[in-house]
Amino acid sequence: MNLLGIDTSCDDTCVAILEVQGSRLKVKSNIISSQIKIHKKYGGVFPTLAKREHKKNLPIVFKKAIKEAKIKENQIDLLSVTVGPGLEPCLWIGVNFTKDLAKKLNVPIVPVNHIEAHILINFVDENSKSQIPNLKIFPAICLVVSGGHTQLILMEKIGKYRLIGETRDDAAGECFDKVARLLGLGYPGGPAIEKFSKLQITNGKLQIGLPRPMIKQKNYDFSFAGLKTAVLYDFLKRPEKIRKSKEYKILVAKEVQQAVIDVLISKTLRAAKEFSAKSIILGGGVVANEELRKQFLQNCNLQFANCKLIFPPKELCTDNGLMVAAAGYFNKEKATNDFDKIVAEPNLRI
Ligand code: KG4
Ligand code: ZN
Repeated sequence: MNLLGIDTSCDDTCVAILEVQGSRLKVKSNIISSQIKIHKKYGGVFPTLAKREHKKNLPIVFKKAIKEAKIKENQIDLLSVTVGPGLEPCLWIGVNFTKDLAKKLNVPIVPVNHIEAHILINFVDENSKSQIPNLKIFPAICLVVSGGHTQLILMEKIGKYRLIGETRDDAAGECFDKVARLLGLGYPGGPAIEKFSKLQITNGKLQIGLPRPMIKQKNYDFSFAGLKTAVLYDFLKRPEKIRKSKEYKILVAKEVQQAVIDVLISKTLRAAKEFSAKSIILGGGVVANEELRKQFLQNCNLQFANCKLIFPPKELCTDNGLMVAAAGYFNKEKATNDFDKIVAEPNLRI
C-alpha cells in the first residue's frame, strides 16, 4: 500500500510517500520545498505570500515525490493531509489539492492533526519488525516545540492524548525567530541562534542574564514573549557599538538558547515524574537544536534511568510530508470519502 502525506500548514510545501508492506514501513520519497528565501526579508512567515507559493509549488512537489518514489499516480492507495493547526489560507491549499486528487484517484483521505504528526514521526522506523509502538513506552510525555506551538501532552497510546500545558503567548521557535531578527542574525531564527551559540566569546566582561519564564510555577504552561522582551530591553540599553558586535550576538544567542532549554527540560521532566511516564517523546522544529537534544539526553540519563527519551532525526523535526503520512498510517481507520467534512481547522487542538 502506498500512502501519500501532504503538509502546507506553514511555509514549507511538503509531500511524502510511505510504502506499507505488512507491518513494515518504507520511505519512498519525502520532498520539501522551502520558502525561506521569500520570507527572509520579512523575518517571519507572511501568510498570503505563503499561500501563493504553496499553490504554485504543490503540483510540482507532488510530481517530484511520485517520480522519486518510482510509482504512478494510480498506485497511491491512501491520502493524508494536515487540516490544522496552522495558517488557514495555507492549510486550504493542501486540503483542496488533496480532495481533487482523491476524487481523481478514487481513494479516501485521512485528515491529520499537525501536532500529532510531529509526535508520530518518531514511530516511522524502517528497521523495526513491527510498527505498533511498544506498549512499554506509554504513558509518554510529549513535548512539541516549534515556530507555532509549545505544548506538553500526556499520551496514553496512539490516538489518546491529553494536553497538560502550552504556551500562553509566543512559541519557543517564535522567540528564537524574533530575537534573531532583532540581532540581524537571519531567518529562520532557530538555526541562526544555534550557529551563533556555538561560537567562542573572547570578551569576558560582556555579560547578560535572561529570565527563565514560569520555570518555578507548578503548572505546565510556558511563556516566551517575556524572554523576547527581556532581550529587547537589554539590546536597547547597550551602546550601538556593542549591539552590532559579533561578541554581543554570540552572548545573546547562547543565553536565549539556554533559557529556552532550561524551561523546556524543567517542565517536561517534572511532568514525566508526575505522570510516571515511561518515555519522553520530542517533536517539532526546535528539537533540531543540538544543544537541546544533548541536554535532554544528559538530564534524562541522570534523573530517569527507566524513562526512554525518543526524538526524530534532525531533518524530520521541522515540517515534512513524512510525518503526515505517518499520522495517516496510524490513523487509517479515520479514512473517509466524505470530503465535505474535511476542512481547514487553523485552531485544531490535539
Ligand atoms: O516544526 P516547524 O518546522 O514549523 C512549525 O510547525 O512551526 O518549526 C519551525 C521552527 C522555527 O521557529 C525555527 O526557528 C525553529 O523551528 N528551528 C530551530 C532549529 N531549527 C528550526 N530552533 C532551534 N534550533 C534549531 N536548530
Ligand atoms: Zn510543525
